[in-house]
Amino acid sequence: MGSEATKRTAYGDKQDIMDVNQIETDDTLYIREITIDDFAEVFHLGEQLFTSDYSPSMYRTWDEYEITTLYNSDSELCLVAELDDEIVGFALGTTVEKTNSAWKYGYLVWIGVRPGLQKKGVGDGLFNEIKKRMMEQGVRMVIIDTDADNEAGIRFFEKHGFGNVQKHVYMTLNLAKKTRRRAPRKS
Ligand SMILES: CC(C)(COP(=O)(O)OP(=O)(O)OC[C@H]1O[C@@H](n2cnc3c(N)ncnc32)[C@H](O)[C@@H]1OP(=O)(O)O)[C@@H](O)C(=O)NCCC(=O)NCCS
Repeated sequence: MGSEATKRTAYGDKQDIMDVNQIETDDTLYIREITIDDFAEVFHLGEQLFTSDYSPSMYRTWDEYEITTLYNSDSELCLVAELDDEIVGFALGTTVEKTNSAWKYGYLVWIGVRPGLQKKGVGDGLFNEIKKRMMEQGVRMVIIDTDADNEAGIRFFEKHGFGNVQKHVYMTLNLAKKTRRRAPRKS
């Protein structure tokens, strides 16, 4: 369908229709706020995407509380992308205000697109909408974090202008491992 395809972003009573030329389907891609009825579908989609391979360090773990916590914190920044009445992607974010900083930060905590429908512009649609909403809320800087091996994710964020990569060290201490007792020193 190419450039004739349209993408509709729907929220509240406001509806925008924008051109999109990446979704090769006659169906409309809706970006809208998540509702409680969507929680199970989004949770199961997240389970497919954010497996232990996604974040072997367990620094970030996908569970049902991620959706409910972010929804309770700012439902306007919890979006789903719908195609053919099916949820094909989601973006969950929040805002952060730091003491001693006049800036308001947007934190895009999770963004995911159904495998098989990736690389067709769904992620772009979700990101553009959440960014627009963050700007409307006075956000001046958006933060993301992902595993250093997540090449597709990093390319995606780079395409959207993210840079200034900060390295973060993740360490573990195994408390289950028995510590060997040292022999007493001979005097
Ligand atoms: C990251 C993700 C959300 C992108 O969604 P998407 O719908 O596939 O992305 P789009 O089709 O809108 O692609 C936008 C851009 O991202 C980059 N990109 C997306 N997928 C890519 C891939 N597999 N390899 C390289 N670059 C990729 C490209 O620059 C692309 O632009 P282009 O098509 O003009 O080249 C999706 O790959 C995903 O769900 N990944 C698993 C979850 C994840 O890692 N989330 C991010 C951290 S929370």
